[in-house]
Amino acid sequence: MSLINKDNRHHTERFCFFDGEPGIQRYDIVRHAQVERMNGVMLSQFWRPEEVDVTKDKGDFAGLNEAEKHIFLSNLKRQIVLDSVQGREPLNVFLPLASTPEMECAVTEWSFQELIHSRSYTHIIRGVLNDPSEVFDHIMEIEEIADLATDISKYYDDLNRFNVMSQAIDLGIAASGDYSEYEHKKAFWRAMFAVNALEGVRFYVSFACSWAFMEIKKKMEGNAKIIKLICRDENNHLKLTQTILTRLLKEDPDFVRIEVECREEMTQLFMDVVEQEKGWAEYLFKDGSMLGLNYSVCCDYIDWIASKRMGAIGLTYSANVPTKNPLSWTDHWIAGDIKQTALQEAENDSYLLGVVNGSAEEARENLNDEFGVLF
Ligand SMILES: [Fe+2]
Ligand SMILES: [Fe+2]
Repeated sequence: MSLINKDNRHHTERFCFFDGEPGIQRYDIVRHAQVERMNGVMLSQFWRPEEVDVTKDKGDFAGLNEAEKHIFLSNLKRQIVLDSVQGREPLNVFLPLASTPEMECAVTEWSFQELIHSRSYTHIIRGVLNDPSEVFDHIMEIEEIADLATDISKYYDDLNRFNVMSQAIDLGIAASGDYSEYEHKKAFWRAMFAVNALEGVRFYVSFACSWAFMEIKKKMEGNAKIIKLICRDENNHLKLTQTILTRLLKEDPDFVRIEVECREEMTQLFMDVVEQEKGWAEYLFKDGSMLGLNYSVCCDYIDWIASKRMGAIGLTYSANVPTKNPLSWTDHWIAGDIKQTALQEAENDSYLLGVVNGSAEEARENLNDEFGVLF
């Protein structure tokens, strides 16, 4: 491998992943216009946690009962772990495989935003507790969180193993005997589904619990505002992972085979996430519930959001699903005043559905008409 691709293939002829190094970083004409538009949105949404005043949260927190304190802090601890993984892994495992400048930019921006999220938790906890170490030092002692970290990391670790093997072969320091690019792509596919479930299900369950304090009790406003900014970013990441999955199917015949071979496994991956999230809800509400948010409602929300996310990437949820969002007030926190993203999402959804429903040509033509770029 080389840090810059010197072959003569135009960058618009490359697949988004597994198609050589991206070459010159240019954005004048791109292959994946939708990804480049997401880059514009992500770059324009830069924010710093310190811009949000959390000083009032300390008094609010002191007034919570013990069960509510447990819910609030446990939820934050879990998000700290989720974003610690996400803050470094896209750069580590997806970036070396990106083959176009716009995808390279998207993965880099994605990881950077996760880093901002990690920094924001320190800001939130400093605003709530005199000694933030009380939270940070003991996170991994909570079995439910340690198990979660293991489950999320295993797909990244597996992909990383293939990445290292492939790079060692490219550098001439390993023989190619045990390496299979097809298996490498399968590891990528699994990791991208796992991260889609993380970005689209696990994070949103945490968000709902965080916003509940402000929505129901009118407390912890600084925290709720920060989580709203984090969610704005996660919306982008969710759409990015959905776009990558559908784009790979369009571009690379290997992924068409992999999709069929792994469909059952990927469905199970999501159902395992659902079970784990429900297990987490049990832990969260073990000392008591909050008005309007309890174990049962949280489980309904998990069913509802998992079914929505699975449908967007062509999977079917195999359990009962509520007909509407059981925490309907989360909608305004998720969309809120971020109309720019909401519009972008609406457009992306239609493209994605076009691909999933088999009318990829139509979706592609729409994009080509709009942007005049190659797909
Ligand atoms: Fe994040
Ligand atoms: Fe994310």
